[in-house]
Amino acid sequence: MKITIIGPGAMGCLLASFLSKSREEIWLLDKNAERALKIRDQGIKIEGISGNWQAKVNVTAKAEEIGPQDLIIIAVKSYDTKGALKDIKAMLGESTLVLSLQNGLGNTEIISEVAGQERTLGGATNHGATLLAAGSIRHAGRGETVFGRMDGKITAELRYIRELFNKAGLETRITKDIKALLWSKLIINVGINALTAITRLNNGRLIEFDGSRKILEEAVNEAIKVAKKKRIRLIYDDPLSKVEAVCEATAANVSSMLQDVLKQRRTEIDFINGAVVRHAQGLGIPTPVNAVLTNLVKAIESSYALQV
Ligand code: PAF
Repeated sequence: MKITIIGPGAMGCLLASFLSKSREEIWLLDKNAERALKIRDQGIKIEGISGNWQAKVNVTAKAEEIGPQDLIIIAVKSYDTKGALKDIKAMLGESTLVLSLQNGLGNTEIISEVAGQERTLGGATNHGATLLAAGSIRHAGRGETVFGRMDGKITAELRYIRELFNKAGLETRITKDIKALLWSKLIINVGINALTAITRLNNGRLIEFDGSRKILEEAVNEAIKVAKKKRIRLIYDDPLSKVEAVCEATAANVSSMLQDVLKQRRTEIDFINGAVVRHAQGLGIPTPVNAVLTNLVKAIESSYALQV
């Protein structure tokens, strides 16, 4: 199988390193040619819970160099999904599957516009990783990776991908209900990401203080109400307890949104808390806490140069 991971961020590097342990042809596509050369020459350096190791990966900035793929994994920020898909025409063959392992809602819809519903896979991973420098990451938390087709069918290709991921050391399963999966993961990000970005706290600290704990609960409860109204089956019996459990399990993590804010970059707020506010419109469910979190993060990301 020929597999390309798009995006050399923390998650893209983590996936490329683990998948490189398989016998398949693995590529990492990085739109920045200079950085691509650097990562190709030095390999990807990993430290953290999987030990200190290095992975040699094929890296390029040119999709034409890679050619048609069996599987393309999108690991760019959600606001870059559209742009990434424009650049990969040369990698899309007749049966190429395109898998989103990104945070937030809306990515599978964007991918299916280009690749078609039949070839779009949605997924989520609970691994935590921090980008230390180009091609250098800290593996901060281990968790399950779950993916599936939009129509819920479990095909031979999906089983093959699951085995490949598992053999490479990424614990993986297939779901028949990616809506349930994506909304359940969304709810975790709704509770953690914006609040950590605003307070600049590690994930675990959010539940140690009454103020942040309360806001986390309210943001999550709003999202649960929206999901229920949309008849989305959440995969956790008690989603709020799950968010708190993730805070504990990833206590030392710097969430991806806090990493963005610390690097003064754009965040995925529109695809997380902003998505809850958008989906609530017309359903008669008020989402004031998610609206405030969205606007605060938007204010932060548009005023980096002016902050005291
Ligand atoms: O975006 C993130 O950082 C992660 O999805 C999570 C689960 C919040 C852990 O940090």
